[in-house]
Amino acid sequence: MGHEVQYILESKRLVWLVAVVFAVVIMFQYFEFPYGDAASSIFSVHRAQPTLSRTNQTETSYGIPKSSANITIFDVSNHTRPVDTLDKGNNVGIENIILSNDSTASPPPSSSASLTPPTTVNNTVVSPSVALNNSTPKPEVNVTNLDPSFKKPATSENKNNPPISAGESSVKALPPVKAVHERPVGDIVTISDMHEILEHNRALVRSMKPLWSSMVDQELLAAKLQIENAPVNNNDRALYPPLYRNVSRFKRSYELMEKTLKVYVYKEGEKPIFHQPQAVLSGIYASEGWFMKHMKESKHFVTNNPKLAHLFYIPFSSRMLEEKLYVTGSGSRDNLVQHLKDYIHLIAGRYDSWNRTGGSDHFLVACHDWATDETRKSMDTCIRALCNSDVGREHFELGKDVSLPETYVRSPQNPLRELGGKPPSQRSTLAFFAGQMHGDVRPILLQHWENKDPDMKIFSKLPKSKGNRNYINYMKSSKYCICAKGYEVNSPRVVEAIFHECVPVIISDNFVPPFFEILNWESFAVFVQEKDIPNLKNILLAISNRRYLVMQQRVRKVQQHFLWHVKPVKYDIFHMILHSIWYNRVFRVDPAS
Ligand SMILES: *[C@@H]1O[C@H](CO)[C@@H](O)[C@H](O)[C@H]1NC(C)=O
Ligand SMILES: *[C@@H]1O[C@H](CO)[C@@H](O)[C@H](O)[C@H]1NC(C)=O
Ligand SMILES: *[C@@H]1O[C@H](CO)[C@@H](O)[C@H](O)[C@H]1NC(C)=O
Ligand SMILES: *[C@@H]1O[C@H](CO)[C@@H](O)[C@H](O)[C@H]1NC(C)=O
Ligand SMILES: *[C@@H]1O[C@H](CO)[C@@H](O)[C@H](O)[C@H]1NC(C)=O
Ligand SMILES: *[C@@H]1O[C@H](CO)[C@@H](O)[C@H](O)[C@H]1NC(C)=O
Ligand SMILES: *[C@@H]1O[C@H](CO)[C@@H](O)[C@H](O)[C@H]1NC(C)=O
Ligand SMILES: *[C@@H]1O[C@H](CO)[C@@H](O)[C@H](O)[C@H]1NC(C)=O
Ligand SMILES: *[C@@H]1O[C@H](CO)[C@@H](O)[C@H](O)[C@H]1NC(C)=O
Repeated sequence: MGHEVQYILESKRLVWLVAVVFAVVIMFQYFEFPYGDAASSIFSVHRAQPTLSRTNQTETSYGIPKSSANITIFDVSNHTRPVDTLDKGNNVGIENIILSNDSTASPPPSSSASLTPPTTVNNTVVSPSVALNNSTPKPEVNVTNLDPSFKKPATSENKNNPPISAGESSVKALPPVKAVHERPVGDIVTISDMHEILEHNRALVRSMKPLWSSMVDQELLAAKLQIENAPVNNNDRALYPPLYRNVSRFKRSYELMEKTLKVYVYKEGEKPIFHQPQAVLSGIYASEGWFMKHMKESKHFVTNNPKLAHLFYIPFSSRMLEEKLYVTGSGSRDNLVQHLKDYIHLIAGRYDSWNRTGGSDHFLVACHDWATDETRKSMDTCIRALCNSDVGREHFELGKDVSLPETYVRSPQNPLRELGGKPPSQRSTLAFFAGQMHGDVRPILLQHWENKDPDMKIFSKLPKSKGNRNYINYMKSSKYCICAKGYEVNSPRVVEAIFHECVPVIISDNFVPPFFEILNWESFAVFVQEKDIPNLKNILLAISNRRYLVMQQRVRKVQQHFLWHVKPVKYDIFHMILHSIWYNRVFRVDPAS
């Protein structure tokens, strides 16, 4: 926890600098310089800082709390709620638990990307993930809005785990802390903060040094070197450079993954929680089912010899875990957590691969909201591909964990049904949203925009229609599709918008968008902070038509990365998920190994 606070504090010093950098980037992009990679080239400044040296600490990083903090989740709420059914009428029939009264209704200060000069605030900036009660030493902070269900003894960690000094020194040279507003209720991590944290973690954080060395370590290191020295190469017509942080690196990394990567899939585990992807091929959690299906079936990537594996897959479904083990109304997920813990115990006793790397070459792919928390303790060293990628509250570690796209699959036989949308000239609606009033953000959205303006088609529930036609037609004929968070940061709308070639407008503070380590999201999506909802229409109108057309075209080009195919194809979502896991593993491998 201490790391995160420290890091956020440090990062606020960067905020002004970053804001300027972003102004430049945005100008570049606005004028459509040939390659939209300005962002990554500018951020490479940080990569290049010579003082960044490796540290001794394993699995230590900024942007994530350590699992050693005691966390109590279920001490407040006992309610159940239906899952986000997206107005589709066919309720998935699941009950979830309201984790908290979110503080998002009164969003905290924006930190960056604002081009107006910030005013100085009294250094009090609190990460939303640092839950405080009155006994914690931040007396100036009004914490009434913080999630009451999170009680973490943040203080001791401050002392015990001082931030990594190498990183600190390079950061300290920057301007003093500035922030925009004076309401330090809880700070948000903006997209530019996320870039920072990712670069920082990339440069500094390494996995545990393997207990004994293996060929696979050398292969990963060799891959890393080749990616870092990737030839500048834009000749793959399937890859449109402005979509990527660095298309050359991505291309090289992808090629090396295809050439090198071997995955061991554990055979242990009972169905249906383990090994039964068919159970989760439709609905909003389908990503975990489809991934499991393709991974288990992959002749190319799977090896039966653990000694040859670069990665180890823990083949469970968070959806089935909930369905089979959660006792409705119990308010407790302890048994779910224990089930996963027992599993790790089992494989760690049976295979030496877990102990060799402390689990850092193991991964899981889980889309249920709860998975983030359920895997936090027993699997915190693993690479976790999670739909609930909340860098603020939910212990999502940039550079290690992977933001898993939440895809709502309506037809497992034909996941591409209804693909596409109208051309830009026929998109008559400026902005569209429809959804149930989950969480705190959507009611605010509705309050400002429902029936307020003919350009803004903002609804709670759309009238029922066969095959959800209304909803899909709006997605196909709107310029911008609003993806407002529900109970948690993620929403299937992000991928739905891309699927229907509508420019996504993401209103979900602290949400790490999918494949963040690879994609340059700001080149094809709009990010609006929750506090700016009243200004939503002006924000959208401020985007020129020319810029809109550019973004829409990019949405169509990035679409291939978000599609499930019955048989996987190159650069599709299956390969992109696997690639992000591979990429994060490659960059965290300890060079001393
Ligand atoms: C992309 O990465 C390659 C390899 O590290 C590097 O040579 C190139 O300059 C990078 N391009 C940009 C635009 O950052
Ligand atoms: C790093 O760890 C080694 C052994 O674990 C220890 O001897 C050394 O002092 C540590 N270095 C730092 C900077 O903590
Ligand atoms: C936190 O966990 C530690 C052991 O991990 C325990 O000793 C301590 O009592 C716990 N604190 C709280 C407040 O639960
Ligand atoms: C949660 O919010 C509701 C309404 O916003 C309020 O009635 C209730 O007291 C809140 N619960 C807690 C624990 O804050
Ligand atoms: C900052 O806080 C300190 C004590 O915490 C106080 O003395 C000082 O006046 C504050 N400064 C501003 C600008 O509020
Ligand atoms: C704050 O936490 C401490 C221990 O974690 C507890 O003793 C105290 O009662 C809590 N205060 C409130 C207001 O919840
Ligand atoms: C904290 O803020 C709430 C409203 O946001 C207010 O009602 C309360 O009095 C404040 N508490 C303190 C200690 O300032
Ligand atoms: C939680 O729900 C259970 C079962 O519905 C009930 O027995 C229990 O009293 C509830 N607890 C609270 C704190 O409401
Ligand atoms: C891995 O380590 C654990 C704890 O030290 C030990 O119980 C287990 O036997 C080890 N596994 C193997 C395969 O040696």
